[in-house]
Amino acid sequence: MSVRIAVGAQWGDEGKGKIIDLLSSEADLVVRSQGGANAGHTVKISDKKFILHMIPSGVLNKNTVSAIGNGVVFDYDSFISELDTLKKTGINPDGRLFISPYAHVVMPYHKELDRAAENCRKNKIGTTFKGIGPAYQDKISRCGIRVVDVLDAEYFPVVLKNNIEAKNHIFEKIYGEKNKLDYDKTYKNCIEKFEIVKKYVKDVSLLIEESLENKKSILFEGAQGTLLDIDYGTYPYVTSSNTTSGGVCTGTGISPTKIDSVIGVMKAYTTRVGNGPFVTELNDEAGKHLQSVGCEVGATTGRQRRCGWFDALIARYSSRINGLSSLALTKIDVLGGLDKIKVCVGYKYKGNILTEFPPVSNILEKCEPVYEELDGWKEDISDIKEYKDLPENVRKYIDYIEKISKVPVEIVSVGPERNQSIFK
Ligand code: GDP
Ligand code: IMO
Ligand code: MG
Repeated sequence: MSVRIAVGAQWGDEGKGKIIDLLSSEADLVVRSQGGANAGHTVKISDKKFILHMIPSGVLNKNTVSAIGNGVVFDYDSFISELDTLKKTGINPDGRLFISPYAHVVMPYHKELDRAAENCRKNKIGTTFKGIGPAYQDKISRCGIRVVDVLDAEYFPVVLKNNIEAKNHIFEKIYGEKNKLDYDKTYKNCIEKFEIVKKYVKDVSLLIEESLENKKSILFEGAQGTLLDIDYGTYPYVTSSNTTSGGVCTGTGISPTKIDSVIGVMKAYTTRVGNGPFVTELNDEAGKHLQSVGCEVGATTGRQRRCGWFDALIARYSSRINGLSSLALTKIDVLGGLDKIKVCVGYKYKGNILTEFPPVSNILEKCEPVYEELDGWKEDISDIKEYKDLPENVRKYIDYIEKISKVPVEIVSVGPERNQSIFK
């Protein structure tokens, strides 16, 4: 029995989907705690590739129960479409997939507001347009609509009408669009979709408690990454939830005293999709290598990911904020073929060298990386199954990352497939 959190240690897309799928063979329950359909978690099993946005990545293991916690902003369109795709592929999660009644619902107007706000922003965040910011905004403003509210025939029309009226006011006064939202259409669409959703609704905190009582193993699936956290990320170029391990307790209803360990999913280099500072970003041949060999294209937006060297300041920061017990180091195969590999060990800022990550975009934009250089390797490592069989320079790179991150590497991922994983 174990209770583990897997969290993204950089700017998202670290390979959480792959690692969650791998670890879920040992987990009875996989739970998502935050974010929404902005997540794009890829799981590759032989010739089949799944990209999950709403449904936890544990769903592909037929013995694992999957749950969406109250901290998630629930996108019912995305949920239904994923469910449909899974069922068409022969995976039927009915009876082992649940959604918390207390999760806030992403309404179609949240997506419209996301787009309208982003279009007006001078310094664009580069959001996914999945309505994440506006849905969390409503939650914090105490006018949001939860799953339980949609299912309440008396309350839903009242709260929806209030919201449509308030949002129409915003569209008219701020964006110059009169009577943009139609109550009847929105109501009908949502009620129809919830006919499908309602059978999956179950109190996730109770489900977790039952699982703990029955000595089951639980895995919490992080979305996004540490540097996209609303409090600890590169604000304002962040998402609107707590993507770090602390968010798991408030986002699912598990107590902090029940968590055994936190595994940080970390790429062997760094990527970022969307705008904001990125000290080790590369705009040279090495950057092109990481982008093309790593197939670095956003799973949700299809945008090219920005690529750069591994950043030890980020690794240590992530370890501190999340309390990382170990690392799943992913995509190390992508570094193969490079003569030299650099690792950032400090930032030059106003004549000083910073050795701790400053979570301030204004400072980060003015920082220059200080690198140490390691020797690369030419071998293809994607079929290697045992740690001892990895080429010497790969092992040296992993040792170096462990040393500067101060976190032990538990899993080395050498390809997108389940079986391309080495337990160190
Ligand atoms: P997530 O959001 O953290 O789940 O990551 P994404 O799925 O958005 O992006 C990770 C991408 O890298 C996906 O295309 C994965 O299939 C792929 N991937 C994961 N681990 C590895 C690995 O070790 N090596 C390679 N080459 N690809 C990987
Ligand atoms: P996974 O779970 C990478 C980024 C967006 C943008 C910022 C805010 O697949 O790792 P939002 O739509 O959340 O308001 O956008 O956050 N972003 C992600 N980047 N991976 C993700 O999820 C992301 N989810 C949001 O690109 O910069
Ligand atoms: Mg992703």
